[in-house]
Amino acid sequence: MHQNTQEWQMDTLLTHAGRKGKAHSGPVNPPVIRASTMLFPNVAALRQATGTRGIYGRHGNETTQALEHALCAAEGAASCLLTPSGLSAITTTLLALLKPGDHLLMVDTTYDPTRLFCDGMLKQIGISTTYYDPLIGADIGTLMQANTKVVFVESPGSLTFEVQDIPAIAKVAHAQGALLVSDSTWATPIGWSSFALGIDVSIHAATKYIVGHSDALMGIILTTTALTDTLRCTYKQLGLSISGDDAALALRGLRSMSARLAMHRSSAHTVAAWLQAQPEVAEVLYPPMPGAAGHAIWKRDFRPEYACGLMGAVFRRDITEQQVAALIDRTQLFGIGFSWGGYESLIIPTAPATCRTVNANKWQAPMMRLHVGLESVQDLLADLEAGFAALRETQSQPIKVAA
Ligand SMILES: Cc1ncc(COP(=O)(O)O)c(C=O)c1O
Repeated sequence: MHQNTQEWQMDTLLTHAGRKGKAHSGPVNPPVIRASTMLFPNVAALRQATGTRGIYGRHGNETTQALEHALCAAEGAASCLLTPSGLSAITTTLLALLKPGDHLLMVDTTYDPTRLFCDGMLKQIGISTTYYDPLIGADIGTLMQANTKVVFVESPGSLTFEVQDIPAIAKVAHAQGALLVSDSTWATPIGWSSFALGIDVSIHAATKYIVGHSDALMGIILTTTALTDTLRCTYKQLGLSISGDDAALALRGLRSMSARLAMHRSSAHTVAAWLQAQPEVAEVLYPPMPGAAGHAIWKRDFRPEYACGLMGAVFRRDITEQQVAALIDRTQLFGIGFSWGGYESLIIPTAPATCRTVNANKWQAPMMRLHVGLESVQDLLADLEAGFAALRETQSQPIKVAA
């Protein structure tokens, strides 16, 4: 029996959800089960079990189910599916909710491989996609077609961090019979009340803050009762499952996620303010920072105590890509790598214009993305200081403007 978690504060919930409660004796954590085959003592038991989830390893086990329970409790979902990556959680959901002839409204700031899936496999099977401006709000109605079945949001957006007006978009989508699907990775399951905002399916790359230690890939599909069977049916047909080892890593990450987020958030605020004060930086893209783009909607819809450590910085137009590369190369504590959400700080140059079809011109200046990790923030600032010194030492060259 899992405990009733409804009354608890979030920190308590993350510590106890998916565990068996006071009556339990034995190891605190569920055992890590590695199993493909499940054995039955006789034919009668085999027959009795047929049709239930526990008859074969792909259907999950005690370790994966503990994680599912904990994640449902954290985000207030009715059901949870665990997939081998964040991207597979997105593709599975879209395949489950769309059929040939349907239309999808996809936010232009979506994680780029999501776009590849829409323009590739979905298109091949006769599902069309229109990309929309993340700041469209209630005007999403102007893009809805009779066959629009899903509106997909990602807020803040990948690389450029626009905050979407989710309740306004949800209202229009629902009024016209479409579902609202969200890539909620930045928010994490505890950073907002996704279902209260109007989201029908909330997807996470658990690879990021849930696992939290950069040692496993995983995706999560959380939803309400109404869509549980539809999503599970596609998930089963695609043959998806995750290992007990990865489930245990994610469960371990989840236990400390709110404590980690508190430090990510606090250091990220300090780093964002420091970056904003550098003369070469035109704009810091970190919605939790007062005065940043999207802050008002972020404050309305997100839980401020669980903001994460991912942000962007836009340089002045006269700063060159070479100068940004010199900055990034000089830092010692910020690793150069494509993920985020682990305990460590990361930094990469970004070029959003190369993967946008709406308002791409807006993003022509050099940019970088930073993940502020759990190192001492003083050390991180000193590291960035050294990086900016390298940027300043590198001779500025005029930006080549495309003809
Ligand atoms: C916003 C967002 N969604 C989804 C994903 C995909 O997650 P995964 O790498 O686990 O497939 C990522 C990965 O970077 C991401 O940043």
